[in-house]
Amino acid sequence: MRGWRRAPYILFRGAARALERASRASMYLAAGTLRLHDLRGAITNSWEEFGRSESMILSGLMSWEESLYGRFLKPADRILVVGCGTGRDLIALLKLGYHVDGIDPAPRAIALACHMLEREGLHAELSTGRIETVTLQDSYDAFIFSWFCYGYIPQADTRIGVLRKLKPYLNPGGRILISYIPAEPPPRSLPIRLTRVVGRLTRSDWRPQLGDVVGPAAGDWQHIHYEHQFVEGELEEEARAAGLTVVFHDRGDGTAVLTAS
Ligand SMILES: C[S@@+](CC[C@H](N)C(=O)[O-])C[C@H]1O[C@@H](n2cnc3c(N)ncnc32)[C@H](O)[C@@H]1O
Repeated sequence: MRGWRRAPYILFRGAARALERASRASMYLAAGTLRLHDLRGAITNSWEEFGRSESMILSGLMSWEESLYGRFLKPADRILVVGCGTGRDLIALLKLGYHVDGIDPAPRAIALACHMLEREGLHAELSTGRIETVTLQDSYDAFIFSWFCYGYIPQADTRIGVLRKLKPYLNPGGRILISYIPAEPPPRSLPIRLTRVVGRLTRSDWRPQLGDVVGPAAGDWQHIHYEHQFVEGELEEEARAAGLTVVFHDRGDGTAVLTAS
């Protein structure tokens, strides 16, 4: 670019970049004011509108799911899908002949999943609730943390608590299949430090951790999206702390399989 246009172009482009950074930082500061209870509510709300189209719900398994489930599920397995949402993976697994139940904290998503099951002539026990607090009625051969769902649970101690909770409900030879978002590139500590400062000032009981990422949910600045991204070795540490063994881990895909032995 030549002539007088160059200076205002660079100025406004720089301003846009600075405003974008400021809005992202403000989202962290906003999240820092939330108490854990409210953060969990915000996470649930952020998922209510996800995957509601019929074509999405009936789109079947993604290729990484096909290869993970094909390798680690056995034909007669009884499975609990954690984070079943509107039912995409749950329905695909039922159609493959597995006995599948599902849980999800988002009530509208669960209601749509129930409707779709009925329409497809399928049956599954669905519960509304978070895996941290839901009462498990049965034991399972496999717990599947659906599509990055493990990282939607804030705080390492809570995630470890969830793994400890599931362990006694694993049938002999049972497996916990996890999908998560690897932290690549390594997470930046500044947003987390800022969020912690706001949390302390507002007496929040949420302790943000390195790898926590917050932003607008699907581009909607009214709703906060939260996810925890995992640095190398973190998943192994959480599994170990819960007394579980990592028998498979593909950091490229963000998938892992844990067992009780
Ligand atoms: C990416 S969506 C997957 C939805 C659906 N299984 C699919 O694959 O289309 C992740 C799901 O995890 C659920 N989720 C988030 N936190 C959860 C928690 N603590 N316990 C159980 N499910 C949770 C969300 O409500 C959301 O429906």
